[in-house]
Amino acid sequence: MKASQVRFVYFLVLNAAVPYVTSLTEEPADSRLDNFLDSLKDLFEHKDDTHQTTARFSLRKPSRPDDDLCYIVPGNPDSLAACSFNSTSKTFLVIHGWMLSGMFESWVAKMVSALYEREQSANVIVVDWLSSAQNHYPIAAKKTKAVGQEIARLIDWIEETTNMPLENIHLIGYSLGAHVAGFAGSLATNKVGRITGLDPAGLNFEGEHAHRRLSPDDAHFVDVLHTSSRSFLGLSIGIQQPVGHVDIYPNGGSFQPGCNLSGGLKNIANFGIFAITDAVKCQHERSVHLFIDSLLNEQEAAKAYRCSSNAMFDRGMCLSCRKSRCNTVGYNITKIRKARSVQMYTKTRPSMPFRVYHYQLKIHFTSKVHRSEMEPSITLSLYGTKGEAENLELKLMLNMISSWWTGHSDSANVKVHKIRILAGETQQKMVFCVKDPEAQSLTQEVTFVKCKDAWRTN
Ligand SMILES: *[C@@H]1O[C@H](CO)[C@@H](O)[C@H](O)[C@H]1NC(C)=O
Ligand SMILES: *[C@@H]1O[C@H](CO)[C@@H](O)[C@H](O)[C@H]1NC(C)=O
Ligand SMILES: *[C@@H]1O[C@H](CO)[C@@H](O)[C@H](O)[C@H]1NC(C)=O
Repeated sequence: MKASQVRFVYFLVLNAAVPYVTSLTEEPADSRLDNFLDSLKDLFEHKDDTHQTTARFSLRKPSRPDDDLCYIVPGNPDSLAACSFNSTSKTFLVIHGWMLSGMFESWVAKMVSALYEREQSANVIVVDWLSSAQNHYPIAAKKTKAVGQEIARLIDWIEETTNMPLENIHLIGYSLGAHVAGFAGSLATNKVGRITGLDPAGLNFEGEHAHRRLSPDDAHFVDVLHTSSRSFLGLSIGIQQPVGHVDIYPNGGSFQPGCNLSGGLKNIANFGIFAITDAVKCQHERSVHLFIDSLLNEQEAAKAYRCSSNAMFDRGMCLSCRKSRCNTVGYNITKIRKARSVQMYTKTRPSMPFRVYHYQLKIHFTSKVHRSEMEPSITLSLYGTKGEAENLELKLMLNMISSWWTGHSDSANVKVHKIRILAGETQQKMVFCVKDPEAQSLTQEVTFVKCKDAWRTN
C-alpha cells in the first residue's frame, strides 16, 4: 500500500509540473532584485536543507555493486588512492534521475555489475545526488545544472591530478540524470569522451535551447535511447526530440513490449491511476535495461536502423547498413559524428535479451484489380536453423508495379512472382520464386523456393 501511495504522488507531480514548464527553465535575470531574492531563497534553503553537498561520488567495487564503501572527494588526492582509483582505465559515472523515495533504485547496482562485467579494470562511480533529486519534480529539474557543475569540478580535478585522458570518461545518465550529464559535459574544461542519455527527461527540457539540456555539444560522442517519448496529456516523460549524435527510438520510442499499457488500461477499473504510472515507469526505465542488456549480452547486440520516421521503419523501408545506416544498440555503438543528429529505430522483445531479428519482405505481384480495391492480408512463418516464428501478420505497403498490365485473360486475379528478403542483422539478401509457375492460383497454397538464377533476378 505504501508503495502505491508513492506512485500516486509521482503521477500527480508530473501533471502539476505543467504550469511551470516555461517559468522554471528561465535563467534568473541578472538584476539586483533577483540577486536579493536568490539570497533570501538561499537563506530558507539553508534552514531547511541539512545536506550541503549536492553530489557525492561513490566508487563502487565489483564485489559489492550495491554498497557505498568509498567516496572520491575532489580536492583530496588521498581519496583516489584510498578508493583504488585506476587512472589508466575507463571511468564511468552513473547518474540517477528523479526519485521521491530518496533511495537508489534497483537498476543502479545492476548497471554497476554489468559495467564491471564488461570492463573489469574500470572505475565505476555512482553519482549520488539523492538529496536534490528527491524534491518535487520542478525543483529537482532545476538542480540538474548545479549537480552537473559539481561533476564538472570532479572531472577537471581528476584530469589535473591524474593526467587521465578525458576520452576515457563515459557519463551514463538516466532521466533527469541525462541532463545532469549534459551540464557536467558542457561545464567541464575539456570535453569528455562519451555521454549516454537513457531516456532523458522531457518535462522542462523538451524544446529548450541546447545549452539547457543534453546536447551533442556536451561530449565527443553523445548517444541516446528514447523509450517513453509518447506524449501523455500533451507532455511526454522522456524527451521526444533528438538530443545526441545518435538517437535510437526502440519500438518507436513509445510503447515498450512487456510494459503492458493496454493491460494497464484494462486494469484501471480495479487499480485506477496506479496501473498507468506503472506502465509509464516501466517504459521510462526500459532504456536502462536495454543498455544493461547490451553490456551483458555482447554477442547478442541489437541493431538499429536509420530511418526518416518510425512509420517508415514499421513499413520495413529501412533495413540497410550501407554508409553507416545501421548501428549497434547500447554500449558497443559505433561513434559517428554528423552535424545533424542521426535518428534510428529498432524493435525489441519484451524482456532480456531484447534483441530481435528484422526482415524486410518485398513481394512482387501483379493484379487486374486496382490496389484500392484490394485488401490482401498476408501472414508469414519463418523456419530456420536457430528457431521458428510462425504466423506473423504483415503490415502491407502496396506499391503499384503493374500499371503496364496487359490484361491477358487469366482465372487468377492476383499473381505473386517473386519474394525478396533482406535480413537486417546479416544484410543477407535472398530471392524466392514460385516453384511451379504454371500451377499458380492464390486460392491454393503456393510454394516458393530460392530462385536458381538469383543473381539475375536481382
Ligand atoms: C589499471 O587498469 C589497467 C587497464 O586499464 C590494467 O592493466 C591495470 O592492471 C590496472 N591496475 C590495477 C592496479 O588494477
Ligand atoms: C501483461 O498482460 C498480459 C495480459 O494482459 C499478461 O498475461 C502478462 O502477464 C502481463 N505482463 C506483465 C509483465 O505484467
Ligand atoms: C564492439 O566494438 C568493437 C570496436 O568497435 C569491435 O571491435 C567489437 O567486435 C565489437 N563487439 C561485438 C560483439 O560486435
